[in-house]
Amino acid sequence: MKKYIFPLVLIILCFSLLLPAKDKRVIKEEVINKKVKELLSRMTLEEKIGQMTQITIQAVSRQHGTAKQHFEYDADKLREAIIKYHVGSMLNVYDVALSVNYWNKLITDIQNIATKETRLKIPILYGIDAIHGAIYTSGATIFPQAINMASSFNSNLVKDEGEITALEIRASGIPWNFYPVLDLGRQQLWPRLWETYGEDVYLDSKMGESYIQGAQGDDISKEDKVAVCLKHYVGYSFPIDGKDRTPAWIPERMMKEYFLPPFEKAIESGAQTIMVNSSEVNGIPGHSNYNLLTEVLRGKMKFKGLVVSDWQDIERLYTRDKVADSPEDAVRMAVMAGVDMSMVPLDFSFYNYLLKLVKDGKVPVSRIDEAVSRILRVKFMLGLFDNPYPNEKLKSQFASEKSDKINLQASEESIVLAKNEENILPLSKNAKVLVAGPTANMLSVLNGGWTITWQGDEESLYPKDKPTVLKAIQDKINPDNVKYVQGTDFDSEINIDSAVNAAKEVDDIILCLGEHAYCETPGNINNLKLDTAQLKLAHALIKTGKPVIIVMIEGRPRLINSIVGDAKGILLAFLPGMDGGQAISNILFGDANPSARLSVTYPKHPDDLMHYDYKPLESSEGNQYDPQWSFGYGLSYTKFSYSNLKLNKLEINKGDKIEISVDVKNTGNRIGKDAVLLYLNDEYASVSRPVKQLKRFTKIELNPGETKTVKFSLDDYDLSFIGRQNKRIVESGKFKIFVGDLDTEFTLNK
Ligand code: BGC
Repeated sequence: MKKYIFPLVLIILCFSLLLPAKDKRVIKEEVINKKVKELLSRMTLEEKIGQMTQITIQAVSRQHGTAKQHFEYDADKLREAIIKYHVGSMLNVYDVALSVNYWNKLITDIQNIATKETRLKIPILYGIDAIHGAIYTSGATIFPQAINMASSFNSNLVKDEGEITALEIRASGIPWNFYPVLDLGRQQLWPRLWETYGEDVYLDSKMGESYIQGAQGDDISKEDKVAVCLKHYVGYSFPIDGKDRTPAWIPERMMKEYFLPPFEKAIESGAQTIMVNSSEVNGIPGHSNYNLLTEVLRGKMKFKGLVVSDWQDIERLYTRDKVADSPEDAVRMAVMAGVDMSMVPLDFSFYNYLLKLVKDGKVPVSRIDEAVSRILRVKFMLGLFDNPYPNEKLKSQFASEKSDKINLQASEESIVLAKNEENILPLSKNAKVLVAGPTANMLSVLNGGWTITWQGDEESLYPKDKPTVLKAIQDKINPDNVKYVQGTDFDSEINIDSAVNAAKEVDDIILCLGEHAYCETPGNINNLKLDTAQLKLAHALIKTGKPVIIVMIEGRPRLINSIVGDAKGILLAFLPGMDGGQAISNILFGDANPSARLSVTYPKHPDDLMHYDYKPLESSEGNQYDPQWSFGYGLSYTKFSYSNLKLNKLEINKGDKIEISVDVKNTGNRIGKDAVLLYLNDEYASVSRPVKQLKRFTKIELNPGETKTVKFSLDDYDLSFIGRQNKRIVESGKFKIFVGDLDTEFTLNK
C-alpha cells in the first residue's frame, strides 16, 4: 500500500498545479464570502444603508474646478458624508480633470476618513467614467472612442486600452471604472452612439470581453487592475426617436438576440459591476424593472456582482417617469427591483428614505443585506481593505511613451478610408494644400465627450503638445505649402469666399467637416444631415475643380450624400482621440496605411437607417438596402485577395465544430493590415434570419506579395438564434459562410 502513497501525493500535487487559477479563485471567493458575512453581522442598519449610497465629489465641494480655479473639497462636508451618513461610494470630478498628484491627495484624504475615523473602517469605493482613457486625470493617455476602437477590428488594441486605462486610473488612486459601454449602437442618431462598439452583437461582445481582460486581468486586487462597470443595462441605446433618454420598445426576441448577449459575455468574462439603463424599455423605466434587473440578470445570467443606478435615476422614477408617486416610493421601487447602490448623487435623500422604508417594514432587511454583501464583496475583491490608498509607484508608468505609441497605432487603425478615386491618397509630401473646415484645428472635436470635462468641449483645457489635424500637417510637410482658411463654423458661414480664393493656389484641398464635442442629452439632433453651412463650403470648394479630400470628424455618421460623388478621397475619422490629428495626417500623407472598417452602417438617406444584418424582405420585392457604406466597409492603400475558402466538413452534427480556413494575399505594393471578417447566414429557419451576421474576425499584417492562411472555428452558439418560443435554439439545415468576396456552404444534420 505504502508504495502507492508517494505517486498518489505526486498526482494530487500535479493536479493542483494544473488547475491553479480556478482553484485559487474558488478558495479566494470562499474567504471573501466569510469576511463579508462577518463584517455584515457587525453593521448597524444605518451603516448598511450608507454603503448603498453613492455621492458625487461635487456634493462635498468648497469650489468647483474650472480652467482658472482648482477644485477644492470641504473637509466638514466630506466628514459628514462618510462619518454621519456612512457613505460607501463616491464618484467623478467637479468639473475638470485633476492632476495625478491632486487625485492622490484627494483619495488619500477620503480613505483616511473612511478607514481611520469610522467605527468599521470600511474603505470608500471610488468610481470614474474613464471611458476612453483616464479622462479625468490631466495628461492621461486618451484613446479613440469606442466606435473607433471597434472599427480597428483589432481586439488586442482594445485589450491594451483596458490595461493602460486601468493602470492610469489606479495611479490616480481610483479602482472602479464605469466602462465598458456595451449598449449596441443600432440607432445612428443617438448622441451616445460613439460610446458604443458599433451595431454588431459579436463585435460588441468581443471588444467588451477584450477590454475586460485588459482592465481586470485575472485578479482585480492587483495594483494596476480595476473593476469594470458594464453599462447601461439594458436597451438604453435604442430610443425610437434617437434622442438620449427617450423610450425604447424592444420585443423579447430582439432583446435576447441583440441587446443581452454582450452583457452575458461580459459577465462570463468576470465583470463584477453593472450600471442601469437610465431610460425606459417597453414602458418600464430601467431602474424599476424587476424582470431585467433580478429575474434575467440574477436568475438567468447568474450575475453575482453589484448593480449601481445611473445618475439621479432613482429619484427620476418619481420626478420624471412618474411610475412612483413619491420620492420615497421611488427608492422602494428601485431597491426592490434589484438596484444595490444609488448614484444619488447630490444629497442624502436616498439614505433617509431607505432608512425609513426599512423601519416601516416596506423594504426587508434581507434585501439590504443582499445589496450590502454585493458591495462589500467588490471592495474585498479589489483588495481595498488591505490597501485603499493610491500606489505611488504606478505614477512612473502614467502616460508613458509606450502607451502613447499604442494609442497612435489605435488611432491609425481606427480611421476608415471610404473613398480613394484614382488613388488620390496618399498625397505627396511636396503637395501644396489648403486645409479648411470647422474640425481642422481643434483637439476637442477629435476626442468628443468625456474628455477632461463631461462634454469634452473646453478647447482651452486640451494639452498643448498634441497636434490638431492642421498642426500635424504643418509639422509633416513644408509649412509654407499649407494654407488654412476655416470657411465655416459647424453651422454658420465664416469666410467661404476666402477658402475658395485660397484653393486657387494649391494642389489639393483637405476639408475637415463634422461635429463639435458633445455628450448625452446636449448632443441630441433632429436629423443626421450635416449642417447646411458645412455642405455649402464643401460644394464651393468642389466647384473650384481642385481635388477635395473630405475628413469626417464626428460622433455619428452625419449624411454627406450630396458631396460623396464629387469628393476624390474620403476619410471617416469619427473620434480618433488625442493622437487623432497625427493619425489623420499620417494616413493622408502615407506614413500609415489605413486598415479600419466601419463598425456602424453609414446611411445615405435621412430616413433609411438600416443595419448590415437586415432581413431578406428588406432587400426584395422592390425594397433595397442602400447605405452610403455598409458596416465592415473600408479601403487600404494596398490590395488583398482572398482564395481557398475551405471547411473541414461539409456536414456536421449538433455539438460539432466547423473549421474554416482562407488564404489572404497582399497583392499590392505596400505593407498593410487587413481585417478578415467572417459572416454567416442561416439559409432557412423558423424565424426569419438576417442576410448575414458577423461571427468571427481577426486582423493580420501582410508584406507585399505575402499570403497568410487565416483559420476560424464556429460552434453551436454561432449557429443559434432566438426561436419562436423566445428561447435560444439551433436548427438543422444549410448555412452559408462569407469571407471577403468568397462564400461556401455546409449542412447541420438533424
Ligand atoms: C451617464 C453614465 C455615467 C454617469 C456618471 C450618467 O449621466 O449616463 O454613463 O457613468 O453619468 O458620470
